[in-house]
Amino acid sequence: MSATVGVAVLGSTGSIGRSALKVLARQRDRFHVVALTAFGQQEQLEAQAAGFHPALVALVNGNGGNGWRSGRAGLVEAATHPDADIVLNGIVGAAGLEATLAALRAGKRVALANKESLVMAGELVMRTARECGGQVVPVDSEHSAVLQCVTGHRPEGVQRLILTASGGPFHAWDAERVRHATVAEALNHPTWRMGRKITVDSATLANKALEVIEAHFLFDLPYERIEAVVHPQSVIHSFVEFVDGSVLAQLGFPNMELPILYALTHPERIPDTGVARFDPVAAGPLTFEPVRTEVFPLLALGRQAGLTGGSAPAAFNAANEAAVAAFLAGRAPFGRIAEVVEMVLEEQIVTAVSGLEEILEADAWGRRRAGELLGS
Ligand SMILES: NC(=O)c1ccc[n+]([C@@H]2O[C@H](COP(=O)([O-])OP(=O)(O)OC[C@H]3O[C@@H](n4cnc5c(N)ncnc54)[C@H](OP(=O)(O)O)[C@@H]3O)[C@@H](O)[C@H]2O)c1
Repeated sequence: MSATVGVAVLGSTGSIGRSALKVLARQRDRFHVVALTAFGQQEQLEAQAAGFHPALVALVNGNGGNGWRSGRAGLVEAATHPDADIVLNGIVGAAGLEATLAALRAGKRVALANKESLVMAGELVMRTARECGGQVVPVDSEHSAVLQCVTGHRPEGVQRLILTASGGPFHAWDAERVRHATVAEALNHPTWRMGRKITVDSATLANKALEVIEAHFLFDLPYERIEAVVHPQSVIHSFVEFVDGSVLAQLGFPNMELPILYALTHPERIPDTGVARFDPVAAGPLTFEPVRTEVFPLLALGRQAGLTGGSAPAAFNAANEAAVAAFLAGRAPFGRIAEVVEMVLEEQIVTAVSGLEEILEADAWGRRRAGELLGS
């Protein structure tokens, strides 16, 4: 038996995974790495494994050599490893859902960066956590901010959440210019360095729609009490308004290591010297703007998919993933992402979803239909 807390890091070669390993490397007296997983980046995974000596390594797109696991079964094995107390899910996209559910069924704390899990299957994920003694703790900086503000308060005391959005690289661009933005322009995020998919989601504001849905399930609040505001400096990570009108916020320079650490230790806080200390003067003026919904339709479309419920959010997520992949591959202009997602949602016959099978069907349909509309 180890005296330190075991952590499985899924998606360890990605932006979140690498940040998580930086945190864990500083906190070796409290945590040890039980498992590491990646999709295809074998060399980086090898280097990580040499540094952390995990009990299990899985390369989804690998051949099962050198004692490593492969395929999706490897992810599930990592997510349910008996020595893992916490599963940090840093996988991108719908591919992360199975591991989230498996970890929760095994009663783990899931430090969840993979917001797509909650968007596709929010009810199922939260129900599985309740029924199996698991726990979902957000890694997303906005939801971490909300969690930090509401911790210690009764849920009935919360009136409204205001999620902050950087606005992405195009927050001040006119609509025509945004429609024809290049991949390089979309990936040039002003405040955060992240993986390619979330960076594009940030530029279209689909990311904020995913986060509104994520917040709805995490904090059990109706959609009309979850708002978004553009805050280009990304210093205030979100606001929580309480019933008496008081507002709390959580601040910090944009850096995912802090919310990752908090997801590992919530509700405790432990000393960490790795992240730049806050300096209000260096942070400079903090400004806020309304979201330009006419230029960035995906926020309203995603929010509506959340309100509609059933299979709608899974189709929204799937269509968005397919359209973003097409944009990144140079097969679709930036403006086509929102158009395709809107068409898929208009065509969808929304059904109730009670289990994983129906959710995966909605995901497959949304992906296929978006692919057809994109001509791929
Ligand atoms: N980056 C951020 O700052 C940030 C902030 C908030 C929330 N998030 C969320 O965190 C998640 C990860 O984002 P990211 O920016 O870290 O993404 P990323 O840099 O693209 O990393 C994704 C990770 O997932 C692995 N992966 C990709 N496809 C997979 C598949 N089909 N099966 C299993 N593993 C797969 C990748 O492995 P390979 O490297 O081998 O391809 C990589 O380790 C997303 O849901 C995102 O929305 C990210």
